[in-house]
Amino acid sequence: MGSSNNDDLQAGMVSAARDAALAGAERIHDARREFLKLFGMGAAAAAGMGAIPFAGAVGDAVAATGSPAGSPYAPAFGFAPGLLYMNIGTTGASPTQVVQHAAADYQDIASNPTAYFFGQQAMRNAIAPGFGCDPYELTLSFNTTDGLCRIIMGLQFQPGDEIITTNMEEDAGKSAAAMVRDRFGVVVREVGLPTNDAVSENTVMKRFRDQLNRRTRAILFSSPVYLTGARLPEKDLCRWAARNGVISIVDGAHGPGMLALDLHDMGCDFYSGAGHKWQCGPGQTGFMYIRNGFSAAPYVRNAPTSDLAPFGVPSPTVPINVPGYSNTTALPTYFPTNTLIYGATPILLNGSRNPDDNIAAILQLVGNGSRPSQKALAEACQLWDGWGRQAIEEYVVALAQYLRARIVDIWGPQALSVPYKRNPKLAARTGLTSFNPFSAGYDYNVDLSAAEAQAQATASSAAVATMRSAHQIVIRNNRVPHSLRSDPEANAAADALSAPLRVSTHLFHSTADVDRLIAALLQVVPHP
Ligand SMILES: Cc1ncc(COP(=O)(O)O)c(C=O)c1O
Repeated sequence: MGSSNNDDLQAGMVSAARDAALAGAERIHDARREFLKLFGMGAAAAAGMGAIPFAGAVGDAVAATGSPAGSPYAPAFGFAPGLLYMNIGTTGASPTQVVQHAAADYQDIASNPTAYFFGQQAMRNAIAPGFGCDPYELTLSFNTTDGLCRIIMGLQFQPGDEIITTNMEEDAGKSAAAMVRDRFGVVVREVGLPTNDAVSENTVMKRFRDQLNRRTRAILFSSPVYLTGARLPEKDLCRWAARNGVISIVDGAHGPGMLALDLHDMGCDFYSGAGHKWQCGPGQTGFMYIRNGFSAAPYVRNAPTSDLAPFGVPSPTVPINVPGYSNTTALPTYFPTNTLIYGATPILLNGSRNPDDNIAAILQLVGNGSRPSQKALAEACQLWDGWGRQAIEEYVVALAQYLRARIVDIWGPQALSVPYKRNPKLAARTGLTSFNPFSAGYDYNVDLSAAEAQAQATASSAAVATMRSAHQIVIRNNRVPHSLRSDPEANAAADALSAPLRVSTHLFHSTADVDRLIAALLQVVPHP
């Protein structure tokens, strides 16, 4: 046991975390059995996509599942032998059946070429319920960056308007804010996010509140945060923004596929997520959500199955149950930035908003896309829906807890980006784990000089490379403006960033994979 007087770090902590991960695997086995019972009769069929065409592959994969110590999902994926891929936070890997169907679809298009415009309405109908939103609000985008840029450039800003963002945004969020800064004269204010024992939801909320003034137009934050893996209090932030007449934009690159999202409950105005990361769709796929209603009560959307319905073409409809919104404020003016058909219908014309409008139909028509990719993303989403998104989140969190428990046991609690608790707080309920074995005392929050920061970055990058070349384990590192031990109110300056390691644990991993990772790390990075 590493040195600690933290009550949560009792003897048996590792085995408790392991038990929790195994219990998560058991739940997955149950969910999977239920899934098989429902085979071919899922929401997709009801939503007009026809039977789910993956009985054979997943059935075989499930039959091949080993003991609960292995992930029940692992057989559905086709990683190279010996490879332990733990960098889903950068990009994921599609299930084998999804790859096969996408390849077949690509072949079909090569044999019978057709325009790529159509079929997305049925896909959106099928996958929107899995994210707790209306299919009229969910557009298949190219990736998180694409969605964020389309969101921010569709809003109206005046010189002097302000956006509150964080010091830990990925380049996509930084670029989005910087573009409206330079183009419209928007003032961008940053809050520093806390790390390790400085982490607290109250601190995050307070730092946002401290930046609010009458010029604040929007908040833009990512969650989970790519540098630390910490989940922010998304709902509290979005509802606080709504109460203050401020637009909320969430960079959810790491949300879909990792977390059981309920976007209406979260209350965000805009959400951009990746399809190719935790959702394990193909490259260049993502989700752009734009809140398009304010009814607190749930409702039924009779959604068309034809992409041409907004243009008056008759279409059969499917009833889709939609949860009510926690954010019941008016909809902000929003202009499409990229569509083939602006003005062809009154929808979004001059930025107008109407909850009955199928805005996603307008935003989806951006010219030719990739039918195989979009179908593959929809298929991956339906797999997740069938397996159960809540069960997946619980499995992912339980496995990350096991990893964090092992890290604490070896390097100590001060090595983690977020505190370890037996019952993890929201901040730690993610599959991204960041820890720092390179700083003095393995302290995530240690103050570094510029020279120490540079040396740490070099050592950390070398460790990432060795993990791959010598152990076939893929992880990554980041440069992090962590909280400072000397002053928990402050974050590291640009020339004094730390370089912790970041590990993604996903549904195809098991506790045995975590053990393999730890064994390799003990050969590669400093430890007590
Ligand atoms: C928080 C965050 N936002 C945006 C992105 C960019 O994602 P995409 O490649 O989907 O545009 C990333 C990628 O790692 C990220 O971590």
